[in-house]
Amino acid sequence: MHTKWAAKAAVQKLISLLPDPQRANYLFQDRVTRSTTLKRTAYEQRLRWAGDHLAALRRLSPDRATSFAAVELGSGWYPIVPLCLFLGGADRVWMLDLEDLGRDELAAQAVDALVASADDGGLTEAIGPVADERIDRLRAAGTAIADRGRQSALGELGIRARPGDARTFDDEPDPALICSNTVLEHIEPTILSGILGRFRDLAGPGTVMSHLVDHCDHYAYVDPGLSVYHFLRYSDRTWSWIDNSIQPMNRLRASEYRAIYKRLGIEVTEEHLSGADGSDLLGERLAERFRRMDPDDVACTSSWLVTRFG
Ligand SMILES: C[S@@+](CC[C@H](N)C(=O)[O-])C[C@H]1O[C@@H](n2cnc3c(N)ncnc32)[C@H](O)[C@@H]1O
Repeated sequence: MHTKWAAKAAVQKLISLLPDPQRANYLFQDRVTRSTTLKRTAYEQRLRWAGDHLAALRRLSPDRATSFAAVELGSGWYPIVPLCLFLGGADRVWMLDLEDLGRDELAAQAVDALVASADDGGLTEAIGPVADERIDRLRAAGTAIADRGRQSALGELGIRARPGDARTFDDEPDPALICSNTVLEHIEPTILSGILGRFRDLAGPGTVMSHLVDHCDHYAYVDPGLSVYHFLRYSDRTWSWIDNSIQPMNRLRASEYRAIYKRLGIEVTEEHLSGADGSDLLGERLAERFRRMDPDDVACTSSWLVTRFG
């Protein structure tokens, strides 16, 4: 009997009803679950994701892969991917999120972890070559966060938070790279279409857009043994009751993202799917909407969608 996920869903629902839910969520995680310390696995995962985005840019648009401008959608708490983009050659990185969720203590942890990776060789293994000059500036940012705060310290590296709905972002026409990690699955389809449409309009020839999407029930990460397909058993109506605004999950499957891209006239240049094997659904209860879909599509656990705009 799985109860942990239900407890987490209930707490998130309660927090989402408070006046400043993101602040309340941070305080809850800091004081109660003690999860504001950067975990090794979470850090390494983001290092790999940054490596994937940079590799896509270098592979598909090599002439735009130096001194470039980048946009990260849904940056969240830790500026790990933006710092890696700086280390990989970006001169300007925009962190788009509804609110600036960064904090000095979170940015300091990200910088410290990256400095340690630079020292042990893990950094270049994950994200490719990094100029010594950039490592020196990263080290200086660690001290600058303590002295002047993260906004000034990251600003010196060209990294800026841009709070607000990404549908209104217009500060960087023709960025070389637009990317996100585990963000698209948290955005309601109509809003998501608006964001991708905005990115399409900003993109220029050779802009690379790279989105990593996690199609799993995220409660499976806190409730050992809970199936990654668990949330697919609920009807849309029931799910709308369970879901919350702190960490909403749209439950879209890979084909539904492809359909949004198609409607917007955005080509998928590369699509990398994981776990797209319908036999993994054996014994799973599925709501009717998912029973009607191709089982391989429903079973897909993650996708990486890469576009090179022409
Ligand atoms: C799961 S979190 C991101 C996690 C982060 N990428 C990481 O790797 O840790 C999803 C983020 O998307 C942001 N988001 C949702 N809708 C958005 C929108 N319309 N514009 C900008 N950001 C949005 C949320 O505020 C949230 O911080």
